[in-house]
Amino acid sequence: MNIVEVKNLSKRFNDKLVLDNVSFEIKKGEIFGLLGPNGAGKSTLINTMVGLIKADNGDVLVGDYSINKDPINLKKKIGIVPQEIALFEILNARENLEYFGGLYGLKGTMLKERINEAIEIAGLGDCLKKKVKEYSGGMKRRLNIVVAMMHHPEVLLMDEPTVGVDPQSRNHIFEVVKKMNSEFNTTIIYTSHYMEEVEHLCNKIFIMDLGKEVAYGTNDELKRMVNSGKIIRLKGKGELDTLMLSLKSNKDVRAVEKTGDELKIVINDKYSLNDLLVEIQGINLNVKNIGIEEPTLEEVFLSLTGKQLRDGEE
Ligand SMILES: Nc1ncnc2c1ncn2[C@@H]1O[C@H](COP(=O)(O)OP(=O)(O)O)[C@@H](O)[C@H]1O
Ligand SMILES: [Mg+2]
Repeated sequence: MNIVEVKNLSKRFNDKLVLDNVSFEIKKGEIFGLLGPNGAGKSTLINTMVGLIKADNGDVLVGDYSINKDPINLKKKIGIVPQEIALFEILNARENLEYFGGLYGLKGTMLKERINEAIEIAGLGDCLKKKVKEYSGGMKRRLNIVVAMMHHPEVLLMDEPTVGVDPQSRNHIFEVVKKMNSEFNTTIIYTSHYMEEVEHLCNKIFIMDLGKEVAYGTNDELKRMVNSGKIIRLKGKGELDTLMLSLKSNKDVRAVEKTGDELKIVINDKYSLNDLLVEIQGINLNVKNIGIEEPTLEEVFLSLTGKQLRDGEE
């Protein structure tokens, strides 16, 4: 059963097309990854899906509710963790939870239970009495996440929940995502520009760039889509540049990159390690190490767009 359907969403800011006819479906209980470099349009997409931005065209359905026709009922089914942390800095965790729980219509015993549950899930421990302004970035993120799920939404949308957090909080956030998904069967939409996170957490992945779909499928499907563009890593001393030039003119070599004494060669299925060995003959090169790897999502992105996912990263 599809819990979310995004249908032909488009959005312009001034003259710039920021969302270009985006469509996908999400099944109940999926952890859906939305992956793309900075500026790809991920936040615009998320904000359009939840009605914070009005689309120029298209529709979003959550359950049977349309964001255009029935936004109030749609919003009851979702929780949103925005990219920018939204908390009251001068209040402590409990006070923030009381306030936001109240906004979701929780009161009395139910509100108390959900506050305790949120504190436990966030693992805020002895930070409880401190004001939020004294928290680390990671602690703020954790609180911001549990705030968004106090009403046990069917769908939780998370926009770059791990940016600016310490490794411990990052792992904690992964655990929260998995726990929400397995214990409450919450459908999660997880947005990130870190491909390792999406690869690790998500069963379905939508890769976008310049407001458009680049690829959409399971991790394995995406890797097959680039016709298993494998990578050869070659370390050596000598005329690496000559080899690089020769590889660049080979139509079965998708990309070559040199770092120090290592070449990273992205190949398609037609190219084999043997072809490389033949190519090396006649070049003055002392090969120290050579290995072949399956592609990562980074390579999938590179081969489909011609650029790196990490371009322009901090
Ligand atoms: N309110 C806005 N007005 C004008 N341009 C915007 C606005 N919000 C986002 N953009 C532009 O839309 C593009 C996509 O931005 P965004 O959705 O934030 O990308 P991402 O979340 O993937 O980093 C960027 O080029 C950004 O500058
Ligand atoms: Mg964003």
